[in-house]
Amino acid sequence: MLITGGATGIGYAMAEAFLDAGSTVAICGRTETSLLEARAKHPGFHTRVCDVSNEEDRRRLLEWTAAQLPGLNILVNNAGVQRDIDFTKGIDDFLAGENEIRVNLEAAIILTGLFVPLLAKSKNSAIVNVTSGLGFVPATRMPVYSASKAGLHAYSMAIRHQLSKVGIKVFEVVPPAVDTELNPDGRAKRGNFKANLTPREFVSGVMKGLQNDAFEIGYGMTEGLIQASRAELDKSFEQMNSRM
Ligand SMILES: NC(=O)c1ccc[n+]([C@@H]2O[C@H](COP(=O)([O-])OP(=O)(O)OC[C@H]3O[C@@H](n4cnc5c(N)ncnc54)[C@H](OP(=O)(O)O)[C@@H]3O)[C@@H](O)[C@H]2O)c1
Repeated sequence: MLITGGATGIGYAMAEAFLDAGSTVAICGRTETSLLEARAKHPGFHTRVCDVSNEEDRRRLLEWTAAQLPGLNILVNNAGVQRDIDFTKGIDDFLAGENEIRVNLEAAIILTGLFVPLLAKSKNSAIVNVTSGLGFVPATRMPVYSASKAGLHAYSMAIRHQLSKVGIKVFEVVPPAVDTELNPDGRAKRGNFKANLTPREFVSGVMKGLQNDAFEIGYGMTEGLIQASRAELDKSFEQMNSRM
């Protein structure tokens, strides 16, 4: 299996869980030191420096994976970035940092397309897309992040239907707030808010969902969001954003 953004946080916890379950695990990310640290803890990890928002890097990742793990049967689109962005002043804030649409949405869409032929060669293949509760109930401070995850949710639903024709299952993992290094600036602004949920605890729930073929996997609060009515989603939106 290959996990993008697998050297830290939720991706790393998934990589550990799959390694424990006997899988051959490859992880990629932009920061070589993080990948080396992960491999120092688990020498079994295959590692690759890759910026998933870069077209050349994505193609090379496919070539590398096909050579290293020719029997690849799981792709986890987990790499993600999150920013607080204020549009009241125009476009400057959006342009001043990483593009969440390219990393969180476009990269997952293009990697899926690139990897389908390789995945389709194996039995029991799956794509796992990591979205967010904020794709169901957007956070007003993170409008682009929320949109990127809502987009990935819609994409996951659509390709679940399409890829069933070539024997590839499509899962969506919907984390609630988990204690990781995502959006360090935003967390610092909010007094280094703690969710009191570790990546490992969250991933133990995810693994059960994957084993049970639960195609949309929530945990805690997001279990309810996945099933919520429009009125319930509107209520959550008001409650969450009045606190923000
Ligand atoms: N933590 C939460 O509360 C929460 C809630 C809902 C959803 N999620 C989602 O969970 C996923 C994992 O996030 P996390 O919380 O575990 O945070 P994290 O520890 O910051 O993990 C994100 C990973 O993505 C990698 N990454 C970012 N941009 C990349 C790029 N362009 N190319 C390749 N790799 C890239 C990062 O490594 P490099 O920087 O080294 O590239 C990092 O390893 C994300 O999709 C996030 O949106 C998290």
